[in-house]
Amino acid sequence: MSGLAFSAAPAPALPLRFLATAVAWGVLSGLWLAWHGGLVLASRWSPHALVMVHMLALGLLGNAMLGSLLQFLPVAAGSPLPWPRVYVPMHAAFNLGIGCLLPAFMPWPAARLLALAATLLLGACAVLSAAAVMLALRRGSGARVLREGIGLAVAALPATVLLGGLLLAARTGWLHPRTASWTDLHAMTGLAGWCVGLLAAVGAVTLPMLQGTRTPPPWLLRAWMLLLVACLAAGLAGARQWLRASPGLALLPVALFATGVLVLQWRSPHVRNRPLRLAWCFAALALLAAAAAALLPLPGGIRPALAVGVLVLGIGLPATLLGMLLQVASFLAWIELRQRTPRGQRIPGVGQLVPAAAMYRALGLHLAASGLLLAAMAWPPLGHAAGLVMAATWTAAACTLAASWRHARGG
Ligand code: HEM
Repeated sequence: MSGLAFSAAPAPALPLRFLATAVAWGVLSGLWLAWHGGLVLASRWSPHALVMVHMLALGLLGNAMLGSLLQFLPVAAGSPLPWPRVYVPMHAAFNLGIGCLLPAFMPWPAARLLALAATLLLGACAVLSAAAVMLALRRGSGARVLREGIGLAVAALPATVLLGGLLLAARTGWLHPRTASWTDLHAMTGLAGWCVGLLAAVGAVTLPMLQGTRTPPPWLLRAWMLLLVACLAAGLAGARQWLRASPGLALLPVALFATGVLVLQWRSPHVRNRPLRLAWCFAALALLAAAAAALLPLPGGIRPALAVGVLVLGIGLPATLLGMLLQVASFLAWIELRQRTPRGQRIPGVGQLVPAAAMYRALGLHLAASGLLLAAMAWPPLGHAAGLVMAATWTAAACTLAASWRHARGG
C-alpha cells in the first residue's frame, strides 16, 4: 500500500486493545437486546433504550474509532500522536466510564453518583483524546483537508460528552430538566459530528486506497464540512430556542455523505475488496433510509426517531465499522508478523490475514440482524431474535480478530 508509513505505526497491541473491546461491547449490546427485546424498542426515553444507544455509540463505535485513529493518524495522515503512555490508561478509564454511565440511566438511588463518575471519566478521556489528536494534526504533514476533517470530528467528541453530561445531570436530579431539543442536539453532535464526520474524513483516503474508488476533490469535502458545521450550529440555535431548527437537519450531511459513498463506488475505476465495498454500500443505503424515515410517513405507526436511531446506530454505522475493523485487524496482524519475521523471509500479504470468507460471514450475520431489527420496529418481540443475531455477528468478528492475531504471533 503506497503512501502508508507503517514504520510510524504504534505497537499493534495498542489499537488492538481498543478494537477487541469494541467487539466485546458489540456482543454485549446484542445480548442486552436479546434479553430486553421490546423494552429497548418501546420508547427512545426508556432506560433500556438509552443503555443500548450508549453501548453502541460509546462501547462499540467509540472504542473502534479511537483505536482506529491510533493506527490511522501516524500511518495514513502523517500525524504521529504525542504522549504514547496515556492511551492504555485512557482505554481503561473510557471503558470504566461507560461501565458507570449505563447503570446511571436506570432509576436507582446510586444513579446520581454513577452519573458523576461517568461524566468525569468520559469527559477527561474526550478532552485528552481530542487534545492529543489536535496536537498530532497541527504538527502533522498529511493532506490538509484530511487533517481538517479529522480535527472537526474530534472536536465534536468533547462537545457531545459535555451535552451528554448536562443531560445526565438533569436526568439524575443534579440540574433542572432539559427540553427534548437538547437531546436531539447531543445526538446530532455525536452521530453526525463525531461518527459520520470521522467516517467522511477517513473515507476520503480509505475509499480510494482500499476500495479502488476515485479520490473525492478536497473542495467537496470542505464544502461538506461547512454544511455539517452549519447544521450543528442551527441545532444549537434550535436547542436555545433562537431558531425553529428541525432535529432532522443533521441528516442532510449524513444523507450527502451516503450519496457520496454510493456515487464513488458506482464510478470506481477498479473494484477492490468486495466485502468492504458491500459493507459500505449497505451502510450508505441504511443512512439514506434514515434520512427518508425522518421525512416520510412510516407504516404501522413506527415512530421516526426510533427508525432513525435503528437505521443509523443499529445498522448503518456498525456496518461501516465491521468492514473497517476487519480491515484494520489485517493491517495490525501484518505489522506484527513483519516485526516478528527475520528480514528477507517472505510473509503473507495483508489481504491473506483476514480471509474474505470470514468478512462475508460477519457481514451476512449483520445483514440478518439488520432485517430482524427493522421487522422488530413493527413487531417488538422480534427484538430478542435480532439481539441474538447481533451478538453472533460480533462474536464472529471477535473470532476473526483472534484468528488473525494468533496467525501473526505464530500460534
Ligand atoms: C459519542 C458519544 C455519544 C453518542 C453518539 C450519544 C448518542 C446519544 C443519542 C443518539 C441519544 C438519544 C437517544 C434517543 O433519542 O433514543 C442520547 C441520549 C442521551 N445521552 Fe448520549 N451519546 C454519547 C455520549 C454520551 C455521554 C458521554 C453521556 C453522559 C455523560 C450521554 C448521556 C446521554 C443522556 C443522559 C441521554 C438522554 C437524554 C434525555 O434523557 O433527555 N451520552 N445519546
